[in-house]
Amino acid sequence: MPPTDLTSPADPMPEGAAGDAVDDVPEGATAKSAAKAAAAQAPTRVPCGIKFEKVVKRFGDNVVLDHLDFTVGAGDRVTLIGPSGSGKTTILRLLMTLERPDGGVIRVGDDPLWHMERGGKLVKAGERHLHEMRKRIGMVFQQFNLFPNMNVLRNLTEGPVHVLGLGKDEAVERARGLLDMVGLADKENAHPTQLSGGQQQRVAIARALAMEPTVLLLDEVTSALDPELVVGVQDLLRDIARSTDVTMLCVTHEMGFARDISDRVLMFDQGRIVEEGSPEAIFEEPREERTREFLRAVLAS
Ligand SMILES: Nc1ncnc2c1ncn2[C@@H]1O[C@H](COP(=O)(O)OP(=O)(O)OP(=O)(O)O)[C@@H](O)[C@H]1O
Ligand SMILES: [Mg+2]
Repeated sequence: MPPTDLTSPADPMPEGAAGDAVDDVPEGATAKSAAKAAAAQAPTRVPCGIKFEKVVKRFGDNVVLDHLDFTVGAGDRVTLIGPSGSGKTTILRLLMTLERPDGGVIRVGDDPLWHMERGGKLVKAGERHLHEMRKRIGMVFQQFNLFPNMNVLRNLTEGPVHVLGLGKDEAVERARGLLDMVGLADKENAHPTQLSGGQQQRVAIARALAMEPTVLLLDEVTSALDPELVVGVQDLLRDIARSTDVTMLCVTHEMGFARDISDRVLMFDQGRIVEEGSPEAIFEEPREERTREFLRAVLAS
């Protein structure tokens, strides 16, 4: 389903509501003040890092992330690899505020994503905080998720106008620049159904960039594409990685692409990082048997 309202969380909470104190916050975690929250509204393009601090995510009895710690530096390109069901998409959905963590703290830049400070304690963040934090993050999904009832140009201008408050002319100018960059300048009046999968994914990438995110999340963005369309979208993402300083957190089953685009690769299994390192280290000299086994299986398929 397309996210028709990119600014709404999966499950809104009342801001700073009584009883909101979060028990399962790692020791030493402190939130920044309201001034910091206001900084979320500051012009974007300043790269932001990501930090998971003892993050827990459960679905019923299924503990998908068990006190997960990891950091992505500002401007870094990090790829998550690992078997199906290991929790990769869940990590991106927590960052996108589509899923709520059950414990721990996630930071984007210096600020906690799901929390704010009240009286020296971290409490669950309210909708206003989430709304501001969400502006820092763009996501491209496997299934494009374009707004089906809007033409390409409106797909790109809707968020900047209604969420960022950009003037219409400026939003259109930005959108046209991005459509040019992704090679679809002649498609601004087309509707998503009139585009190929590869073209739709290019629009989805341009739409994410139109919000000028500081963090770009990519979840298997080429896996729904016909093989001949994969290379074009991967080339586009390589260009973006080269020409911008956006922090990229990418999930992919395409090991060649992971190798090309990443500064660092995290091998993930059962909600834990099994091993991490440079693409050369992970793909050429993996230390862990679990990584070797996974790579053998993926490369054989
Ligand atoms: N909304 C949900 N409700 C219940 N369980 C869920 C939900 N979303 C994910 N899960 C479970 O969480 C675990 C991790 O799922 P996730 O989608 O993060 O895996 P993944 O690593 O992205 O896998 P894949 O490579 O197949 O995309 C799986 O066991 C999955 O069944
Ligand atoms: Mg997934």
